[in-house]
Amino acid sequence: MTSSEPTRRSTSWFGAEGKMGFVHRSKLYNSGRSPEMFDGRPVIGICNSWSELTPCNRHLRDVAEAVKRGVLLAGGFPLEFPTMSLGETLMRPSAMLYRNLMAMEVEENLRSYPLDGVVLLGGCDKTVPAQLMGALSADLPAIVLTGGPMLNGKFRGCDAGSGTHVWQFAEEVRAGRMSRAEFGRAEACLSRSAGHCTTMGTASTMACLVEVMGLSLPGSAAVPAVDAGRYALAEQSGKRIVSLVEDDVRPSSILDRRSFENAARLNAAIGGSTNAIVHLSALAGRAEVDFPLEEFDRQARDIPLLVNLLPSGQFLMEEFSYAGGVPAVVAELGERLHGDARTVTGRTLAENCEGAQNWNREVIHSCAEPVQPAGSATAVLHGNLAPNGAVIKLSAASPELIDHTGTALVFDTVEEYYARCDDPDLPVDADTVLVVRGAGPRGYPGMPEIGNLSIPKKLLDAGVRDLVRITDGRMSGTSYGTIVLHVAPESAAGGPLALLRTGDRVHLDVANRQLNMLVDDAELARRASEAAERPADAQGGWTGLYREHVGQADTGADLDFLRGRRGHAIPRRHL
Ligand code: FES
Ligand code: MG
Repeated sequence: MTSSEPTRRSTSWFGAEGKMGFVHRSKLYNSGRSPEMFDGRPVIGICNSWSELTPCNRHLRDVAEAVKRGVLLAGGFPLEFPTMSLGETLMRPSAMLYRNLMAMEVEENLRSYPLDGVVLLGGCDKTVPAQLMGALSADLPAIVLTGGPMLNGKFRGCDAGSGTHVWQFAEEVRAGRMSRAEFGRAEACLSRSAGHCTTMGTASTMACLVEVMGLSLPGSAAVPAVDAGRYALAEQSGKRIVSLVEDDVRPSSILDRRSFENAARLNAAIGGSTNAIVHLSALAGRAEVDFPLEEFDRQARDIPLLVNLLPSGQFLMEEFSYAGGVPAVVAELGERLHGDARTVTGRTLAENCEGAQNWNREVIHSCAEPVQPAGSATAVLHGNLAPNGAVIKLSAASPELIDHTGTALVFDTVEEYYARCDDPDLPVDADTVLVVRGAGPRGYPGMPEIGNLSIPKKLLDAGVRDLVRITDGRMSGTSYGTIVLHVAPESAAGGPLALLRTGDRVHLDVANRQLNMLVDDAELARRASEAAERPADAQGGWTGLYREHVGQADTGADLDFLRGRRGHAIPRRHL
């Protein structure tokens, strides 16, 4: 911004003289505003991903009203606006295909409208990273308020967690241990209120990571969606954003390398979703913080698993909230986090969490008695199958499979696999390494959550419950198993995964962070020379643009032209 421009963006619109100011203000009078709203007070956007097509975010319009109260209380002028919304359960081919589109939309909204700051209302998996990616690129003062988890699912007298139990029940039906009628009854029982998934899936994980990165108010990740406490947090967030605008505190004033290290470490302590790695990598790209994939492994190595939540543990988000949520985990981790990292409260992370109590050590363990010892978090693998890296979530894997050599059974599409997975003649045994490729950002396109491949029926019948699986796709944060994900480069981008053939031997060696096909280089070179040219994409539209510009999983699968900060300079006026 040059010195001749007003210090507050919105003043350029609402403080303008003549016909331009008239037009900017006049239309807003159609909702009965008072003239004081245009007196130069901070204009706060409430970026809402409410949608009935995103059931996890369906309460966010009510939450927005509480945010508005807070903004008004602090002397700001709140203006709520909608964006596209990414409903994880309904959107095809994958909500991830649209994360970057939503990020672009959020960014351009922030830049093109008379906003001084923004409260981001998201919840379901992709909505939080998408909003934040846009906000980091626009670098306008911002505060995140996630929607909070649903109340615990209840089925057959027990707690049941979204995602995780669905996968379990579905396998029980296939194994004949659960009836279809009972499976049908479970549907409604798992979704008892507004809010996002109740396990430590991607939505819960991202809420926790955003909180530890200092971008949302302390304690806000875990409070259930329908708890009055969430509405109190909304009001507080509305009040706080006004101060952030007055002090010109932007995301770039808060985020630095420490924030990302804290996020990677907290992700290990909570047993967070593998998807968080892709989203954090994309966020680092937007924030212009150098944070390569290997850091997720390096930062996590000495962090024990403390939070006993599904899918790595036992409980659900409701218990996590009552036990003390993220501040209690931060207190347990103590020196293992950068306590001096900055946050939206104006205080440091350590100051925010000082005196935080852990009310239930069954849910949040101490470092002395963790759920799983350090080294059980997500490992980053390299090797001739994944030169740019792949990940495996150890807390959800079978210990007996993490050093494993087996024969590959390779499928080019996930559909091909499911067409054959119940075939009694499928050439599989408990040692098989099941590979599904063509599921990366460019290949599918949109890097869907297919990694949690069902166990072939004949193995299920034989009592096999886990198998080494490898894919260039992702898996739901609510799933479990010995599954190598995010192989980069993906097969559709010319990665060596494309050269693997059924019958090849594959060695997964987590201790040495290696993933290799036991095929010699000469043979691989021969296969590469025989590989058919990929036909040019003729798709056009968003999907065509996406396939042309999407990066690989190891750098966050963002579009190349969207990485980095572009700021929020006031655009040219046309009147
Ligand atoms: Fe929306 Fe899980 S489906 S958070
Ligand atoms: Mg998901």
